[in-house]
Amino acid sequence: MKTIPLILMGCGGVGRQLLQHIASCRSLHFKQGLHLRVVGVCDSRSLVVAADFLNKELDDSFLSELCRVKLGGSSLAKLADLGECQVFVHPESQGKLLEIASHLGKSTGLVFVDCSASSDTIVVLKQVVDLGSCIVLANKKPLTSTMEDFEKLFTHPRRIRHESTVGAGLPVIASLNRIISSGDPVHRIVGSLSGTLGFVMSELEDGKPLSQVVRAAKSLGYTEPDPRDDLGGMDVARKALILARILGQQINLNDLKIESLYPEEMGSSVMTVDDFLGRGLLLLDKDVQKRVEKASSNGNVLRYVCVIEGSRCEVGIQELPKNSALGRLRGSDNVLEIYTRCYSEQPLVIQGAGAGNDTTAAGVLADIIDIQDLFP
Ligand SMILES: NC(=O)c1ccc[n+]([C@@H]2O[C@H](COP(=O)([O-])OP(=O)(O)OC[C@H]3O[C@@H](n4cnc5c(N)ncnc54)[C@H](OP(=O)(O)O)[C@@H]3O)[C@@H](O)[C@H]2O)c1
Ligand SMILES: *[C@@H]1O[C@H](CO)[C@@H](O)[C@H](O)[C@H]1NC(C)=O
Repeated sequence: MKTIPLILMGCGGVGRQLLQHIASCRSLHFKQGLHLRVVGVCDSRSLVVAADFLNKELDDSFLSELCRVKLGGSSLAKLADLGECQVFVHPESQGKLLEIASHLGKSTGLVFVDCSASSDTIVVLKQVVDLGSCIVLANKKPLTSTMEDFEKLFTHPRRIRHESTVGAGLPVIASLNRIISSGDPVHRIVGSLSGTLGFVMSELEDGKPLSQVVRAAKSLGYTEPDPRDDLGGMDVARKALILARILGQQINLNDLKIESLYPEEMGSSVMTVDDFLGRGLLLLDKDVQKRVEKASSNGNVLRYVCVIEGSRCEVGIQELPKNSALGRLRGSDNVLEIYTRCYSEQPLVIQGAGAGNDTTAAGVLADIIDIQDLFP
């Protein structure tokens, strides 16, 4: 049996789903000669660790209780009563993580799985890289801070996986890495990488006003609680930056051209969400409608996409042919077109659900299994 010890950072929607996937895949992994040993789990404040972390694990019934406690909004500290574990609170938790990494990183191997949505994990991640640990990320922040951080995390390229940072479970990063390692030059990537914006842009085609479409997206649960978090384009920009950096562009988030679908004077520091949804959006309807009509008269549709080409990396609305994979997009799927020497006229197209706890966690789990050969 090969054992893969891991520490989970972040037990929100994705992290908890990952713990459930791990438990439900026990017999599958057993057949493959694999065992995933969950050594510790942390949230923003605390860290729970198996009391004897060199040999023991947090077992499935403990982890299921942990998920229950987190879902109920309680602190991980509540789990101390169950025994078999130790709870550390920030900042002691940081020291404990490094202690575990220095014991396990180079002997049994260890994976740090970042399912948080925070930049605060970067410091620890950079240190455990030097202690021999592997890294698996759903969190985009560590790969979208400085170039130095990015390069540090990629010190050992075989020890890092981050499929779920772009397009959730879709095999975007894996496909791109295979293309790159085959020496096939990537000329251009165009992608709709936000389920929300994919839905919004395709609905506009039918002549519906932006205000109505955004409200519909919100009530369907496609948007963040404040839809401006989607409409601003920052999440798409982070994904674009990760793709651009993989292609070798040495750029930072503030080098990107990012088009926001709402003006600064409708920002969250100026307008409440309700005001924006009720009054602000109405003011944007006419301009958007004009752009939709102009595109349509050219046989095109509007899509909110990232475009990565040469040294260019930008995020915003583009006119694209109706009769292309992106042009045909309806609903909340992600669609990515990759143009290379081998895929020149007809791009390689990757399409499917680009969000959701389930698919995202599945992508993270597949990443962990993918590095099994690094474990003794
Ligand atoms: N959900 C999706 O569809 C999707 C798709 C692709 C990628 N992702 C990415 O996956 C990540 C997780 O998403 P989510 O929806 O599960 O987020 P979430 O529900 O907000 O959960 C985030 C978790 O991270 C914890 N956390 C915050 N700071 C931390 C720190 N410094 N160290 C350790 N843990 C910390 C939070 O702790 P508390 O519980 O104490 O607040 C919480 O448990 C995000 O980066 C997101 O962008 C999500
Ligand atoms: C993901 O998990 C969070 C937290 O449990 C939940 O609020 C959200 O509805 C889930 N999202 C989906 C698409 O299942």
